[in-house]
Amino acid sequence: MTSAPVRVAMLGCGTVGTGVLALLADNREAITAKAGRPIAVGPIVVRDLEKERQAIVPRALLTRRFEDALEADVVVEVMGGTTPARGWILQALAAGRPVVTANKDVMADHGVEVAAAARAGGVDVFFEAAVGGGIPIIRSLKESLAGTRVRRIAGILNGTTNYILTRMSEAGTELRQAVAEAQAAGFAEADPRADLDGLDAARKLAILSSIAFSARVLPSDVAVEGIGGLSPHDIRNGQRFGWVCKLLAIAEQAGGGRISLRVHPAFVEGSHPLAAVRDSYNAIYLQGDAIGDAMFYGRGAGSLPTASAVMGDLIEAVRFLGQPARGLQAAEGRPALLPPGESVSRFYLRLQALDRPGVLAQVAAVLGRYDVNIHSVLQTPEGERSAELIVRTHPVRESSITNALTELGRLEAVAGVRACIRLQPDGL
Ligand code: NAP
Ligand code: HSE
Repeated sequence: MTSAPVRVAMLGCGTVGTGVLALLADNREAITAKAGRPIAVGPIVVRDLEKERQAIVPRALLTRRFEDALEADVVVEVMGGTTPARGWILQALAAGRPVVTANKDVMADHGVEVAAAARAGGVDVFFEAAVGGGIPIIRSLKESLAGTRVRRIAGILNGTTNYILTRMSEAGTELRQAVAEAQAAGFAEADPRADLDGLDAARKLAILSSIAFSARVLPSDVAVEGIGGLSPHDIRNGQRFGWVCKLLAIAEQAGGGRISLRVHPAFVEGSHPLAAVRDSYNAIYLQGDAIGDAMFYGRGAGSLPTASAVMGDLIEAVRFLGQPARGLQAAEGRPALLPPGESVSRFYLRLQALDRPGVLAQVAAVLGRYDVNIHSVLQTPEGERSAELIVRTHPVRESSITNALTELGRLEAVAGVRACIRLQPDGL
């Protein structure tokens, strides 16, 4: 065993990069033993040399020049975004440097290109931190579960929105305040709209689905609805029925060789394990032929949990440095997708309607016309002439519910369709 340190360049030194430095400092002895060699970080490429940073960041190692990073043996990319991260990752791989990245934007949209560059460079690329923060889900899916045919993935894949929904549900916190708290804690993306609009979860779902279904799934394949339209009122209504509101990322076999991919808020039964996933925690609930049900749970965002995944990858990269690459198997065939309108769900609908004879019958007639089977209705008077109608449906096609809601919105007796939230999928 050689004791010469391995030089590790870091691209970015924000929330995750600082966590990597802290973890290395805290666990240096164990990390050295596991990697087989000491790890020396540097150079560290950042955008702003003057910025105030935590004391653990060695200012002398900071640079703005990416080219300096190619002097190192391994490159860790923790800067985020697509440009310049994608180009720098490709250049590092082309120069024969193994790359460890936490970048789901690049891996989700350009994973095939990255895998090809790694093959051409004769090195490996590692991306455990790109999905689920500290949860070891990538390696589990790629290796430990390789023999299982995955039927469904239902994940809480975004720590920021899960934190926000927890605060809204449990403390009645307003959305904007909860977003600010998630940003201060370092969970949110540089542009938090990626979290709120469900795009971050869609990217992670695309990465997981590509591995699970051996196909090249892109974020644009995922039907996405974020949490921006949720109101505290509906979250409270759900609680009255024993439900917890979560942003679910779902990928499932839909018959005929097609897969359904979607990210949307959903009410989950309070007794389901996913309902207990609070704050910035993530969970990936897998259903497969051999394994049955399995849930992977842990901190999905934050400095040290994410650094833990980066460090695991880095240790592996160092252990196998100089040995033939094992090669990232990135499937290139495109999947057959179930059109979003054909996806089947149960729904919670909230309408504001006039409180007068015959209104309920009109609403039921419209729903019936579009094949929407009503499970139950709860009517609550609101003042003298208005009522809140909560309709819960049996499973129905998305296209049917969309058409029914459009027609309901046109009824003179309906002041508005205030909410349409899916319920937990059957069989989950
Ligand atoms: P961050 O706190 O915003 O840090 C980004 C770092 O990258 C900063 O040090 C920044 O430099 C540097 N950087 C950005 N653009 C650059 C450019 N054009 N040239 C040079 N340096 C540049 O981000 P983060 O939260 O650590 O996230 C990093 C990556 O990890 C992202 O891909 C993110 O999606 C992923 N991730 C984050 C978490 C989390 O909980 N935060 C969890 C899992 C995965 P300055 O310091 O000079 O501004
Ligand atoms: N913004 C992301 C989240 C970071 O909140 O889950 C972890 O990928």
